[in-house]
Amino acid sequence: MSRICLIVCVALMLQVCQAYYGHYEHFPSSNPDEFAAHPWNYVYNPSARVPGHQFEGRVINRQQPSSYPLWKHSADNEVGEGEVESRLFNRLTANLLNAGFFSNRFGNNVGNGKPVKNSRPFSQINKWIPLTVNPDFPSVISKFESCTTFSEEEGICVPGAACSLFGGRPTGSCGLKSVCCINAVSRCGTTITLNNTYWQPPVTLGSSCSLTIKLDEGLLEQPKEISQIRLDFTSFSISQPNAEGNCATDVFKVIGADNVVPAICGDNAGQHMYLNVLSRGPLRSGKAVNTQPSKEITLNFEFGALSTAARMWNIQISMLPKGASYLAPPDCLQYFAAARGRISSFNWQDVETTTTRQLNNQNYNICFRTEEIERKRASEMCLSVCPVKNGGDAFSITTPTAATNPAAALANAQAAADAAAVTVAEETVTAAQDTLATAQTDVTTAEEAVAAAEATLAEQEANLAAAGETLTQAQVDLATAQTALEAAGEDPPAELIQAVTDAEAVVAEAQAAVDAAQAAVNPAEVAAAQETLTAAQTALVDAETAVTTAEENLALAQAAATDSANAAAAASDSASLFGAVGTVFTAAPADGVTTATCLYDYLLISGGRDATNIEADRYCGNELNPAGSAGQAVSVPVCTPIKSFRITYRTDGTEGEVVEGLNTIPAPADELNTGFCLVYQEK
Ligand SMILES: *[C@@H]1O[C@H](CO)[C@@H](O)[C@H](O)[C@H]1NC(C)=O
Repeated sequence: MSRICLIVCVALMLQVCQAYYGHYEHFPSSNPDEFAAHPWNYVYNPSARVPGHQFEGRVINRQQPSSYPLWKHSADNEVGEGEVESRLFNRLTANLLNAGFFSNRFGNNVGNGKPVKNSRPFSQINKWIPLTVNPDFPSVISKFESCTTFSEEEGICVPGAACSLFGGRPTGSCGLKSVCCINAVSRCGTTITLNNTYWQPPVTLGSSCSLTIKLDEGLLEQPKEISQIRLDFTSFSISQPNAEGNCATDVFKVIGADNVVPAICGDNAGQHMYLNVLSRGPLRSGKAVNTQPSKEITLNFEFGALSTAARMWNIQISMLPKGASYLAPPDCLQYFAAARGRISSFNWQDVETTTTRQLNNQNYNICFRTEEIERKRASEMCLSVCPVKNGGDAFSITTPTAATNPAAALANAQAAADAAAVTVAEETVTAAQDTLATAQTDVTTAEEAVAAAEATLAEQEANLAAAGETLTQAQVDLATAQTALEAAGEDPPAELIQAVTDAEAVVAEAQAAVDAAQAAVNPAEVAAAQETLTAAQTALVDAETAVTTAEENLALAQAAATDSANAAAAASDSASLFGAVGTVFTAAPADGVTTATCLYDYLLISGGRDATNIEADRYCGNELNPAGSAGQAVSVPVCTPIKSFRITYRTDGTEGEVVEGLNTIPAPADELNTGFCLVYQEK
């Protein structure tokens, strides 16, 4: 019973695996929004293609040999067949020994400075490899076909004994006597030559970690000419960039590719990159294709001092043969081959963030295969911002603000100055009114002083008059007394003499009183009070004039402030109009400064337009909107009819201010940008 079961099980397994083998181009998951981790072999239904449009910008080389021409070196070099086989074995041994595949078990012999072909420390291996490998060698090993495991890992199909001997991880059958062998390398400084190698970090990391991909048409495990390498970041997490957007602590770089590959850092799981490689090889049909025998691409991590950073990665390295239908167009760092999907800038994540995630010095194309939609070739591609669940910002590329429009800045400054002038004018009016009130008080006081002085003078004059009357009376009395004395004759009585003497004394006294009253009369005080009054009245008139003038000035200042506030509002409206589209602003001619938005950091969607046909090619700011980012609160879908569908992402070397210079257009400083995440759909 159990024996039957075992046989059935094995038979079933074999069948399933056989079915899998050769069908690694699987179909997409049912959720069309799900990020396509392997879009290059997604939705690839050849019968759905429009003839003549297999894909953009490339001619597929249909002249590929169906299997590796074992005789190619011998034909070139006129060697006999028997010799070929033994050479083949030596080469296989030597070459595989130098692959990551082998090195897991035998140690790494690459990087020791010796040429690979001379490095044959295990030449005795021939003696025992043939026992298991040799019978199927030409037909199985030489193809090094790729295969996919149930857990969606990709490997190569080799005899089981070879897989375990080479240190790979066998994961089920993929053909007669072969297993799908997963090759994972978790070391630094190693060199690999096998397709579908997974690279992971070692347990302890130093200050850098690199992996070299060696391409050489002389290698048996590379029977096909390789023209691209695809890196799939199954997981990828190193330190975040600094506030300026520079990968200042950790950085990942690709060295040696024929296209420009941006340096990246941060979180990049789910992202991919295509590296163009001009395959190198020895003589091909008697002609030197390239004098360089091989090509090396190095993937390099550098780690800064931040020891707390959690660093991890798992990078699948796929070597894509020349002429394959799934190659990316040559100038595309990323390539998507599905009618719908998600794209995002490196290090974009759906997370709430208070730090910069946008990376500097990006400059690459994201390309999309033109798909067939309802049996017609797609005529346009639409992009809209990704829905976010966790507070991420789906569009945040160096924000232009109204301040980047010098006209608006000038108008704003004018409005602020005018508003300040109104305040000053109001203060002036208040002060003038205070002065007026004081002047009025002073006039009142002066008038009272004049009145008091006049009253005092009148009293003094009255006193003088009274003293004068007293004197007159005393003189009359004296005259009466003298008359009486004369009338008394020669011998007047003593009392009459006494009366005259007394009268004379009274007159003298009255005269003294008159003199005193005379002296007391002081009209100068009245004059002085009068003068003070006149001065106070003049001051009052002046204060009244000052109040009138201040009030007039206030009215003028208020009118100017209203005008300039309106002008500022109009100017910032126009700034928002220009915000998104790379329009150059020219400030007031006297200023001479020209500022542009979306000049240094932007997403280029050629022919992009919104539903109302407003068109713009450069997008930046906080919204995807051709009508302008700064003043527009919403992102809108943007569609382009221009094929082949592609967008370009570019950032400069700083989030800081770009200072105006000779031939340098200034731009304001900006931070906290996150990059972009967009959903695309071909229609
Ligand atoms: C490498 O593997 C990928 C994916 O499994 C496959 O499409 C490609 O053809 C393989 N490359 C070569 C050179 O066989």
